Amino acid sequence: MTRYDLNAAVSDDAVLVRDVGPRDGLQSIDADVSVETKVAMVEGLAAAGIPRIEVGSFVSPKAVPQMADSHAVFAATATLDGVHREALVVNERGAQAAVAAGADVLVSVVSVSETFSQRNVRMSTSQAIAEMAKIMGVAQAAGLPTSINLSASFGCAFEGSVSPDAVAAVADALASLGSTELLLADTIGAAAPSDIRFVVATVRDRVADRAHVGLHLHDTRGLALANAMAGLDVGIRRFDASVGGLGGCPFSPGATGNVCTEDLVHLFHAEGLTTGIDLDALIDTASTVESALGNRLPSHMLRAGPRFR
Ligand code: COA
Ligand code: ZN
Repeated sequence: MTRYDLNAAVSDDAVLVRDVGPRDGLQSIDADVSVETKVAMVEGLAAAGIPRIEVGSFVSPKAVPQMADSHAVFAATATLDGVHREALVVNERGAQAAVAAGADVLVSVVSVSETFSQRNVRMSTSQAIAEMAKIMGVAQAAGLPTSINLSASFGCAFEGSVSPDAVAAVADALASLGSTELLLADTIGAAAPSDIRFVVATVRDRVADRAHVGLHLHDTRGLALANAMAGLDVGIRRFDASVGGLGGCPFSPGATGNVCTEDLVHLFHAEGLTTGIDLDALIDTASTVESALGNRLPSHMLRAGPRFR
């Protein structure tokens, strides 16, 4: 069931949040996480009103063994209502598997950095864009929207700084293919607020109204909330985040957790924006995830709670 038309603009006083914890978060954890734990995580996020959840990925199990059971997680959450269950795919075969598993949205990645692209998906950036055309063909045939993360948009673990023009060129190519949602990803947490403002403006200049631009932030250097605020100020209304601040990337040395969903939602609500998310219920879910994983998660809300109740 589709709750949102992802192609529609999000109103100025609302923010569309996608939790990528079950995929981006769990894929970088060494410990085996059971299907039951993943399903409980997805159910808890849905119960808290998270409108979009990246439930898993359909990629090579050799590349990302933690996601090899994504079929089972999709199957066990098939009856969840009112939430988009999104799947990360990086090739046509994965796209077909995600459609068969019942995904509502196909999420994909194209790295702006050639080196990271090779490390992550063993393709050059232009090969990844060509593969994206095939993925979008599969999505279109199934009547599904796509959402693309432009990884390393603010810096790369291998190549260092990344030119905003290179980000805009990739965004332009993807918008020309027909992708209507492009999320600029700060894979290694290198962005500062001024970079967010500049790169978003540069991309928007090229893409104009062909695609909605969003942000996928990591808190590696403690700047994720400041960067989110900069994004809000320039009109960004689509954000990825990860419950508890789980995350990292197995292919990008030094990458740490995504911006924490409950901390981000707390910020949005404090700024007077609506998310449709029940913050207390989300903090309960984060607490359950923390207990299940047995590791302290980098979440401010888990320690301090919201400023006013
Ligand atoms: N689902 C499951 N298995 C897949 C697959 C898919 N979508 N695509 C490829 N494979 C399998 C192949 O069958 C092959 O298996 P085998 O070794 O048992 O024969 C193996 O993966 C390698 O396939 P190949 O086509 O040779 O690809 P590759 O070695 O060049 O790797 C990718 C390319 C894209 C498959 C691999 O790098 C990958 O899955 N990366 C995903 C990384 C990721 O998820 N990163 C996080 C996102 S930021
Ligand atoms: Zn990420």
